[in-house]
Amino acid sequence: MDFSVKTGAPAEQRTACAILPLFDERLTGAARELEAASGGLIRRLVRSGDASSKLGSTLLVPTPGGGAAQQWLRVGCGKASDFDAKKLCRALASAVGALKDKGVREAVSYVAWERPSGVTAYYAARLAAETVRGAVYRFDEMKSDAGNGNGKDRKRLARFGLAVGDAADVADTRRGIAHGVAIANGMDLARNLGNRPPNVCTPAHLAAAAESLASEHDKLDVEVLSERQIEKLGMGALLSVARGTEQPPRLIVLRYRGAPKAEKPIALCGKGITFDTGGISLKPPPKMDEMKFDMCGAAGVLGTMAAIAEIGPAQNVVAVVPAAENMPSGRATRPGDIVKSLSGKTIEILNTDAEGRLILCDAITYAKQRFEPRYLIDVATLTGACVVALGHLHTGLFSNDDALAAALLEASSRSLDTVWRLPVDEEYGESLKSNFADFANAGSRDGGASVAAAFLAKFVEKTAWAHLDIAGVAWRSDSQKGATGRPVPLLVDFMLNLDAS
Ligand code: BES
Ligand code: MN
Ligand code: ZN
Repeated sequence: MDFSVKTGAPAEQRTACAILPLFDERLTGAARELEAASGGLIRRLVRSGDASSKLGSTLLVPTPGGGAAQQWLRVGCGKASDFDAKKLCRALASAVGALKDKGVREAVSYVAWERPSGVTAYYAARLAAETVRGAVYRFDEMKSDAGNGNGKDRKRLARFGLAVGDAADVADTRRGIAHGVAIANGMDLARNLGNRPPNVCTPAHLAAAAESLASEHDKLDVEVLSERQIEKLGMGALLSVARGTEQPPRLIVLRYRGAPKAEKPIALCGKGITFDTGGISLKPPPKMDEMKFDMCGAAGVLGTMAAIAEIGPAQNVVAVVPAAENMPSGRATRPGDIVKSLSGKTIEILNTDAEGRLILCDAITYAKQRFEPRYLIDVATLTGACVVALGHLHTGLFSNDDALAAALLEASSRSLDTVWRLPVDEEYGESLKSNFADFANAGSRDGGASVAAAFLAKFVEKTAWAHLDIAGVAWRSDSQKGATGRPVPLLVDFMLNLDAS
């Protein structure tokens, strides 16, 4: 997608499609000028009930006459006084959706011609670019050319103009677009990795993705540890998860250098279970295919690294991604097995389906020991309990550091990639007591998201840490089934604002 900024008079803007906001059945700004040029067309459409200001409703006007646009797409934006960043994104996503399969290659949006209150020009543009790119994303690499629903041959939207009413906003709009495009590139990477089938997206595939990122960007360096190296290090918890599969595990270490070496990095650990059958504690069949998305923490972390490598904040960031497949077999870990983690702590594995915390605890220990990070953030599709608590709206945030939690909450409201803080008191870990090992990997089902977080906290110890449980938000199961690319916008926003402070 090629984005540009448009500042000219709306009536003179040549375009295949002008996307015009409709607020409260009233005409504002750019729309008013075009309305005059078209001899009152919109007023007539509104009066006849064909055009509505309901948020996200659309009406394509093929031959508006007047003005230099070949067609108009009116998009409902609700009450003008309530218009905000979230509604801007909703309206734009609907507009781009309405243009799908219409053969429109190019469009200019006037939706943010008058900027919504409380949104800077930079954020309006960044969110707009992210939204447009998100709305045109398709995953069709596994469809044959003859395949039904394959969009490869269709004409797609390829150029998108953002019209701004105030010439003083042009520079910020351009910067917003550049950052939005970088974030969208990171989200596309995360979505592609998530959507790939589990027979393609294996631990080795995730490692190869990290290697190709590092070869594209000067500021990225990668190391991939093999099963033997993981064994030598003593990561018994990570290894125990990979025992049942034919796919050897990997530990991926991807470093971004944006600051002098001496500066402590932010560490990102992403759960990379490329398929979660549950292991010997086998999951029931319904929706098990969706457990190919159990590597979306890893994908989100790699997507974030791709985006920051493109933007270039003055931070050091290191991604530590444990990648494994959780399968049952004659060699698989049994409930009752006891393993020794990299930290030296022993774990009784009571439920082989609580595998995310096992691979993460070793990754967390490794990140802590090797990099002494300023902040450690792990990202994981960790618990069904988090989905029960928060549904598919917010990422669960757990933290032992109020300043870090506050920074993530601020990034959440700016990026619209939202988080909700949940508790991680030590008491949640009490049900993890074991008579045979230092503790067990599974305990009380009640408050399960906090119990899982409390398990991780035992390995984090004093490091300033946040845990993002993305089980409810990393993919959709509805008609738009597929990976979402979350929490790339959240993490990139967090990194960019650390830079500023
Ligand atoms: N990957 C799952 C969590 C999950 C389940 C995410 C459904 C999204 C949708 C995780 O490995 C898991 O199985 N967790 C168990 C933990 C339990 C055995 C303590 C769970 O949530 O049931
Ligand atoms: Mn599991
Ligand atoms: Zn899992």
